[in-house]
Amino acid sequence: MSEPVSTASSFPTQMPNAYLSGALAPTQDEIARSDLPVVGKLPRDLNGMWVRNGPNPMFPPASHYHWFDGDGMLHGVRIEDGKASYLNRFVRTSSWKKQQQSGRNHSPSYVNARPLEHLQTLAQGARKGGADFFNKANTSLVWHHGKLFALWEAGSPYEIRPEDLGTVGPDNFFGKQQHAVTAHPKIDPVTGELLFFGNSLRGNSVRYGILDRAGRLVHQTTIPVGRIVMMHDFAITQRYTIFFDFPMLVRPLMPLVGGAMLRYRAERGARIGILPRYGSGDQLRWFDVEPGFLFHVLNAWENDDTLTLYACRFPGAPGVLNRSSTSRDQLQLDASMYRWVIDIKSGRVVEGAVDDRPAEFPRVDDALVGAPCRYGYAASFLSNDAPALVKYDLIANTSQRHEFAPSQLAGEGIFVPRPNQVSEDDGYLVSMVHDEADDRSEFVILDCRRFDNDPVIARIPMPQRVPAGFHGVWLDGRSSSSA
Ligand SMILES: [Fe+2]
Repeated sequence: MSEPVSTASSFPTQMPNAYLSGALAPTQDEIARSDLPVVGKLPRDLNGMWVRNGPNPMFPPASHYHWFDGDGMLHGVRIEDGKASYLNRFVRTSSWKKQQQSGRNHSPSYVNARPLEHLQTLAQGARKGGADFFNKANTSLVWHHGKLFALWEAGSPYEIRPEDLGTVGPDNFFGKQQHAVTAHPKIDPVTGELLFFGNSLRGNSVRYGILDRAGRLVHQTTIPVGRIVMMHDFAITQRYTIFFDFPMLVRPLMPLVGGAMLRYRAERGARIGILPRYGSGDQLRWFDVEPGFLFHVLNAWENDDTLTLYACRFPGAPGVLNRSSTSRDQLQLDASMYRWVIDIKSGRVVEGAVDDRPAEFPRVDDALVGAPCRYGYAASFLSNDAPALVKYDLIANTSQRHEFAPSQLAGEGIFVPRPNQVSEDDGYLVSMVHDEADDRSEFVILDCRRFDNDPVIARIPMPQRVPAGFHGVWLDGRSSSSA
């Protein structure tokens, strides 16, 4: 097991940056605690481990800092037989190790690169074979072929040991071919295949690949896009894989002359691409849609020649991609749930908002990815609306909200089905909540069947603050203890 680290002496408590203060301020210590106190009662049928990834700079940044720049830190809450424990660990990336040796943060900023920093980044990237040398592995996690991986969207996955959240090392789903792997691969719950894509700053295309349930690369092809766009997520159905060409343009050379690497250009149009699962790139069909932007997909499915897709859509450029990071008001996550229905034969697209209230970090029951579903879940935070976890009924076109105090941020809610699940919403929604009023965090467990009626079953106050982060995974008891 890796020796735990503490950087408490080197990190100022208040930084003039919205991504380094309040609920987003980093935690310095790696700790492990068992037999945590519980408010309420942990369900006896909830056994497993929640692990969540998120950016957490180990050392104060030298210059600009954006939320996406921090070192990956994993927080784990294990629940077993009515008892709870917690631990956290940085992902030991090459970048993390280098910083630990030098005792300083020398990472460039993803969104705010200064010209000289950016030139150095490009030069190092060219010399060392891509962006992996500053891969933070800070975005999400996936469990597949008996392994847990911490993911970034511009580098290799890092394998993680579930029992102690220690880092095994980098892996590469594309095999010997060095290539980025998305932070949002999709696992077909029926076939066990893992589908993924990889962004590249070279060439106007993305790579797409499939692992079989044993982790063998069984398909790969190049998807021609014709421009470099920020493509953070994608979608699958039983027969198709869906790509998003939305006009958040990536301009790798612009920071060299002081310009922004990301630029939203609505007039350049938006397209959704549909590819047969094992198709080659030239079989992709594009469908024009209203411009906008999306980070995250809720789910998609097909019914004969009709494809239905739900995602959290921003009507324009998301505030969180602003270059300025001094004010919380600029970090808006004001996307809302949106639906596209695409007639694959005729090319007709019907699209529109499901509701107009903010929602991000959407999740469905993992067992229904790519298949018709009735319920979806999302979080509302970093918006002007009340912080909440939201349950959508996609058939009734309604939503229920469990609201938190204005000082609380509830992150991504993960649906955990109860054993012998009797209905689609028969399960728990688990999430980490940080309260900026007292700088404390707690893990919450909600009953999804009574979402609008005091759904919180239990709360587990955390032994240290857990900053608001990105995406996590629920490992059932067998996965998390046998690995
Ligand atoms: Fe994401």
